[in-house]
This record gives sequence, structure tokens and C-alpha cells, in this order.
Amino acid sequence: MTQKRHVYLETYGCQMNVADSEVVLRVMHDAGYDRTDDMVKADVIFVNTCAVRENAEERIYGRLGTFRNRKKTKPGVVVGVLGCMAERLRKDLMESESHVDLVVGPDEYRRLPQLVENAFSGEKGIAVRLSRVENYDDIVPLRTDGISAWVSVMRGCDKFCTFCVVPFTRGRERSRSLAGVVKEVEQLVQRGFKEVTLLGQNVNSYRDGDNDFADLLAGVARVDSSLRVRFTTSHPQDMSDKLIETISAHSNICNYIHLPVQSGSDRILQLMNRTYDANHYLRLVARIKDRIPGVSLSTDIISGFPTETDDDHRMTLDLLRQVEYDGAFTFKYSPRENTKAWHMGDDVPDEVKTDRLNEIIELQREVSLRKNRELVGTTVEVLVEDDSKKSPDDFCGRTDTNKMVVFPKNGSGVGEYVRVNIQNANSATLFGNEISHN
Ligand code: 5AD
Ligand code: SF4
Repeated sequence: MTQKRHVYLETYGCQMNVADSEVVLRVMHDAGYDRTDDMVKADVIFVNTCAVRENAEERIYGRLGTFRNRKKTKPGVVVGVLGCMAERLRKDLMESESHVDLVVGPDEYRRLPQLVENAFSGEKGIAVRLSRVENYDDIVPLRTDGISAWVSVMRGCDKFCTFCVVPFTRGRERSRSLAGVVKEVEQLVQRGFKEVTLLGQNVNSYRDGDNDFADLLAGVARVDSSLRVRFTTSHPQDMSDKLIETISAHSNICNYIHLPVQSGSDRILQLMNRTYDANHYLRLVARIKDRIPGVSLSTDIISGFPTETDDDHRMTLDLLRQVEYDGAFTFKYSPRENTKAWHMGDDVPDEVKTDRLNEIIELQREVSLRKNRELVGTTVEVLVEDDSKKSPDDFCGRTDTNKMVVFPKNGSGVGEYVRVNIQNANSATLFGNEISHN
């Protein structure tokens, strides 16, 4: 009897990559491969990569070094680089990393079993064609049972923000069918999942015939009223009033919106091709806060975009103060080849980028702390997710507004909704006691 082959897969980058990796595992599973978490057991080593910033790529080169050593010990093993970095570097990657057998972009995962088969007989392969239609709608991602699942609903991006490599590595926007997404969510509910996050680079531009993203969100929310529904990422330009009303109307659509602003300076926003100005963004935030009381907002910020001055930077800080985000993801600008911003140079010195980044982080920490402290004394509903990392006697879980809550175990279990009275808070976490569970 032949032994089953094993595939080992590491994933870097955004949640979209996490979801794509589950598609890859399904494709490989159906071709007879079992997943292993032990690289030593693997016949196939895949790394699903990110190309959004240079430091992501640097980390992955480090991992490729480890795989090279593995291949020295076990020359028969097939090493494949998947995802955005594969798409960006293509042939160059195979030339610079001689132990890499396969370079496969995000729209070519159906071909993996054949490419791996060829690689076993010594034939290297590159598959980096981007598709206008591939959305893997019919492939059921291979997931480990759990509380929370990522569900990809659209792929690619047509926005062409000038700093961003995604339109080049993931191609044009295309959506899955509404029926396909709803069916997948129904199956997740039957399997015991309690939370889904609908994913896309720009979910607000989802479209299936006459159905837009608000229709999709409502359709998913109706699958089960106790299922928590999240979504990411929203582009401020495409956040419609209908979508805001839909979030407001469904109690199980979480009151949390990740709404990247990137900068508070109109001049920089224009150079970034974000298609809105600070005022437009602030008016949108005001409408959201008005229609969804208690809503929690988060953002992405880039520091040190080409030509950014201290004044531009101060405008970003001002905007952060005005919006009062619950959280912010902050990045130093990193020039990416092929993007428009690449030609704008990279004139802000690294120390200045770092100083500005630290100022943004510090300000946001104060705002987050103040907002979290306002919750001390209130009772919040928490979906219990896991043991707390710090103590096996505590659980952790999140509120509908995506705040992490830690509390002592008291009769409830993972996957249940519990009411927690908040007693303490820092900028990242709320601490409290369970008062009842249902
Ligand atoms: N440099 C720095 N940050 C970037 N992002 C995307 N491209 C770059 C880049 N070239 C950030 C943006 C985006 C997030 C996912 O990554 O803030 O919203
Ligand atoms: Fe990149 Fe802009 Fe598209 Fe987001 S919306 S993926 S930042 S191009």
C-alpha cells in the first residue's frame, strides 16, 4: 500500500491569504494529500505569501532559507511559493531561489495537484496567470472546526491606490455568487461555527447581478440570528447608506467597521488616489455613528508617504482625534515596484517615518484606553473563543464591537455567549466577571 502524501503549509499576510490557504488545502486534500503541521513529515511544502510591504517579503525570504535546508536533508520534497509574492516576482523568484520548485499565483490554485505531480518528476512550474472570473465559488475551503470562520466573498481590487501592489498581485475585482456564499455559511452553522467574517479587499464593491454587498450581508445575517457576522475591508468611497442601514437593522451584524483612512491630509489622499478627502470621510463617520449607536471603528494609517510633511502628519493626528477610533493598524510607507507611488520616490527618511508612526501609535493608545475605560462598570455580551493566553483559569472572547475581553471561567464554555461585567481595562483588553450565561 502506498503511504498518503503530506502537505505542510505556512500562511503570511492578510486574512484573505488565510482563506485562500483553506482553498489550497481543499484542492490538495481532494488530490489525496493530508495536511501536516510537521515540516519533517511533509512531501510538499507550501508558503502562501504577502507582497504588500517589503518587511513581509523579507520574513518570507527567511523562511525560504529554512525550506532550503529541509530540501538538503530530503531532496524529494517539493517546495512551492504561492500567493502575492509569487505573482509579483514570478520567474525572478525561481531564479534567485534555486530550491523553489513551484511559483503559483492566487488565481491558479486549481492546478496545484498537477503542478506538484510534475515537480515530483523533476519539472519545475510557474503558474501566475491572473483571471477575470476565478472566484473558487464551488470549492469548499478545508477548515479546522472552531468558533470563527473566514469566508471570502470577492477577490481582487480595482481601486489602484497608488501605494498598493494588490491590484497587480490579485488582479481585477470579481465576486462570488450570493447563493454560494449563503450556502457555505449554512454549512458552517451546521458544523457549529458561531461567527463568520466576510472577506474581500474591498467588500463594499461586491456585486452579484442586482445584489450588492448590503444584500449579501443581510442574506448571511438571516441564515441564523445567533451567528455573528463581520466583514472586512470597507473602502470609504463605496460605503453606502443602504449598507449602514443594513448593519443597523440586523442585531447579529457586528457594530464594528474597519474603515481605512490612510491619511488625514487631502493633498496626500489625492496623491494616494483614495478618491475622498478628509471632510468626506468625517461626514461618513458621522453618519455611521448616528445610525449605529456604540459602533466601533478601526483604520489603517500609512506614515511617510512620498512628500508627506510635518503638516500633513499633523492632519492625520487631528483626524485620529476627531474620529476616536477604537483601534488603528499603522504602517511605515514601503515603496512597491509597479505602483504609481514607486515613481514618486521615497523622500521621507526612515527615522522621520518611525517618529511619525510612534506618535500615531501613542495617540491611538491614549484614545483606545480612554474609550475602553468608559466601558468599566458596564455589562457586555462576549462570545467565548478560547482559554486566555495568560491563564488557563480565564477565558477570552470578543464583544460585538471586536473588543477583547478576559474573565475567570465560571461555568460557561467556548462557543457560548456570556454577559460580562467590566471591571478594568487597558488600551487593548477589557477585564471583568461573568454574570450569567445563556
Ligand atoms: N506601504 C505601507 N503600507 C501599505 N499598505 C498597503 N500598501 C502599503 C505600502 N506600500 C497598508 C495600507 C492598507 C494595509 C492593508 O496595508 O494601509 O490598508
Ligand atoms: Fe490596495 Fe487600495 Fe485596493 Fe485596498 S483598496 S487593496 S489599499 S488598492
